[in-house]
Amino acid sequence: MTLREFRATDLPFVSAIVADALHEHYDPVLYGTLAAEWPTGFLIAADPSDVPVGFLLGVNQVQGEARILMFAVDRRQRMQGIGTLLMSTFLERCRGRAFRRVTLEVRVSNATAIRFYSRYEFSAVDLLRTYYSDGENGYQMARDLR
Ligand SMILES: CC(C)(COP(=O)(O)OP(=O)(O)OC[C@H]1O[C@@H](n2cnc3c(N)ncnc32)[C@H](O)[C@@H]1OP(=O)(O)O)[C@@H](O)C(=O)NCCC(=O)NCCS
Repeated sequence: MTLREFRATDLPFVSAIVADALHEHYDPVLYGTLAAEWPTGFLIAADPSDVPVGFLLGVNQVQGEARILMFAVDRRQRMQGIGTLLMSTFLERCRGRAFRRVTLEVRVSNATAIRFYSRYEFSAVDLLRTYYSDGENGYQMARDLR
């Protein structure tokens, strides 16, 4: 598995992972725009044929803070440590930029992701009512970086 930055040719693969894993639709233009703002915050995990099998898209909208906007691994490739690799590399990069805090949002029903984030010392800091387009509530989770 290789970790690298997002490229425009990754778009169909990333969109397919998002449609299956996150049940939300995003304007395809968004990926390129956000990648341009913070290229090393958009991590792609690629297989030996350079096909994206997972990604973590982080943004820096608040000074000193990163927000994980999207994070998903192809369902056929989960439980192999790809998510762990993406998350640990992302947190390292945030420390490298001297960020103090990382935040994210997650569906209240997404027990797998909540457990994953808890392992990474994120904790729920807010309940976001009807946050998702289908009306589901979300948690905002956050962790400090030392
Ligand atoms: C959350 C997500 C990104 C994790 O990705 P992943 O590649 O499966 O993550 P990992 O393989 O690193 O870790 C997952 C679990 O597998 C375990 N694991 C890792 N490597 C393993 C291995 N070789 N053998 C067995 N188990 C392993 C980990 O301990 C971890 O356990 P946990 O469930 O207690 O946390 C993935 O589940 C996903 O894409 N979910 C759908 C999208 C989503 O919910 N995203 C978050 C939205 S906010």
